[in-house]
Amino acid sequence: MRLVMLGAPGAGKGTQAVVLSKKLQIPHISTGDIFRSNIKNETPLGKLAKQYIDSGALVPDEVTVGIVRDRLAEPDCAGGFILDGFPRTIPQAESLDRILEELGTKLDMVIDIYCSDDVIIRRLSGRRVCPECTAVYHVRTSEMARQGICENCGAKLIQREDDREETVRNRLKTYHDQTEPLIGYYREKGILVRVQGEGSAADTTAEIYQVLGLTE
Ligand code: AP5
Ligand code: MG
Repeated sequence: MRLVMLGAPGAGKGTQAVVLSKKLQIPHISTGDIFRSNIKNETPLGKLAKQYIDSGALVPDEVTVGIVRDRLAEPDCAGGFILDGFPRTIPQAESLDRILEELGTKLDMVIDIYCSDDVIIRRLSGRRVCPECTAVYHVRTSEMARQGICENCGAKLIQREDDREETVRNRLKTYHDQTEPLIGYYREKGILVRVQGEGSAADTTAEIYQVLGLTE
């Protein structure tokens, strides 16, 4: 299965992609996680990406597309993948079409997780992430998040720097201006499915399982 998770910042793309990746046994590819790992390791890519991420803007298309092209060519992607946070612009989507054509394949489905701006602004202030293994938690639903310790690896949880309210507002603007047009792009191709992201994470998972024909 070749899937894209679409949706605003904080809609739950990462949360759902982790569940689906386990269920379908295919890699979860988050461009945001790739950038954050490079920032943490202070690589040249990390230094470049940080300037954009900190302000809520997008990293330039040519940089991001190159990373995804290389990642999709790796052997573990041959049986399918879940892209999370890519594509985010129409040129990125067109590049993805070309990359997949070169690999002799195409997307099966694009899952758009819907969540309103108000819910997102409230939600992102409670997010905690693991800087070591990228696990994502929320203080409202996780005791470990309230204690600030990662359930998987025991590392100390942190708040993402771009989860400050002002940056979240910029990310939302970037989303509406540059990423939302992808909904029409994929709807025209007949592969877009919209699911509700405002209920519980489990409700969203159940809806995604249903559209993919999976059982619990
Ligand atoms: P990225 O890391 O992709 O961030 P994002 O799109 O802003 O999305 P988030 O990771 O914030 O949210 P999510 O939808 O994954 O939600 P989550 O599951 O964590 O990108 C970061 C930056 O990198 C971008 O701003 C950009 O600069 C750059 N970048 C990345 N990709 C790029 C690209 N392709 N091109 C250019 N630049 C790029 O859930 C959020 C919180 O809510 C968590 O606490 C979670 O526990 C909780 N939660 C989840 N679902 C529910 C639910 N149903 N109910 C209650 N709480 C929930
Ligand atoms: Mg994410």
